[in-house]
Amino acid sequence: MVQIGNIQLPDFPLLLAPMEDVSDPPFRVVCKANGADLVFTEFISSEGLIRDAIRCRRKLDIFEEERPTGIQLFGGDEARLALAAKIVDVTQPELLDINFGCPVKGIVAQGAGSGVLRDVPLMVRLTEACVKSTSLPVTVKTRLGWDDASKNIEEVAERLQDVGIKALTIHGRTRCQLYKGEADWSLIAKVKNNPRIHIPVFGNGDINSAQKALEYKNRYGVDGIMIGRAAIGYPWIFREIRHYLQTGEMGAPPTVRERITVCKEQLRKSLQWKGPVAGVYSMRKQYFQYLKGLPGIKDYRSRLVTLTSPDEINNVLDEILLRYEGFEIERAPIELVNYHENCPL
Ligand SMILES: Cc1cc2nc3c(=O)[nH]c(=O)nc-3n(C[C@H](O)[C@H](O)[C@H](O)COP(=O)(O)O)c2cc1C
Repeated sequence: MVQIGNIQLPDFPLLLAPMEDVSDPPFRVVCKANGADLVFTEFISSEGLIRDAIRCRRKLDIFEEERPTGIQLFGGDEARLALAAKIVDVTQPELLDINFGCPVKGIVAQGAGSGVLRDVPLMVRLTEACVKSTSLPVTVKTRLGWDDASKNIEEVAERLQDVGIKALTIHGRTRCQLYKGEADWSLIAKVKNNPRIHIPVFGNGDINSAQKALEYKNRYGVDGIMIGRAAIGYPWIFREIRHYLQTGEMGAPPTVRERITVCKEQLRKSLQWKGPVAGVYSMRKQYFQYLKGLPGIKDYRSRLVTLTSPDEINNVLDEILLRYEGFEIERAPIELVNYHENCPL
């Protein structure tokens, strides 16, 4: 069992990563239903939340079926972050996570996200302010350091634990790497093996198959893993990993019917929660993996990402089921898209 504050998770929990415009309640629900043990909201601006921006407030919504859920905040000002943490408290997630990992220029410029990796005392103050202002367990998600020359995660982990965080997730890249190269988990293992560290340490970065999850579990000894991109349009990654960890065998992959059914369910929940326009847009990132491996699917997929009418989208999904029902999709490693390829540093 892994314990985060008073939350009890199974051994070696599988976490759904916070992902902007992806990790919304409908997506979190389908991931939970397919084996995610703990899910996170996308990052929420503490400033936006305080100013009561409608978009930010909606980001606090949690569906009962997805729990346990962590709400993730970012911000570079102690008092404002602490105030935002108080607002989060009222909405009663299971935990509050602070984002010290986002590499995007606009966020870093506010002294938030991975920007604080260059200012550990500020990072500590921000964390302490949050811990003191909320009754929720506080966790942190961050990267190895700012750049290759300043990988300070070992120091960061100790100092954040000292001010009261209850778990730490580490993405095995530096800020300057964005998503380039392969995630390096060796430093994550060092943090985990530090005898001073007693909180759970979760590894993150590039897990895209059950085999890789087991290999990294054994090699790096982390307490659990967080999965981001591989779950987009493929929520079954969680159950596949769990089954493989328990049996050493790959369970049956989702059938075409299951893929279409879950995709339609996610669409239905998105429409209900976000409305017909945003609900349709929010699903567009998901179709690629839901339908990957079906021969001749490209034209259907192009229609799915251009149509705006929910009825027409549902009709296309029905057409796909009619044509491909029973087709066995060959299992292949999930492609991990580099979302920040053109992001300015
Ligand atoms: C589209 C997208 C949005 C993201 N948004 C967030 C975010 O809001 N907060 C955060 O901490 N990380 C965010 N990340 C980073 C992921 O949580 C994760 O650390 C990263 O994708 C590496 O894990 P993976 O290789 O399993 O995808 C985002 C990643 C992607 C691809």
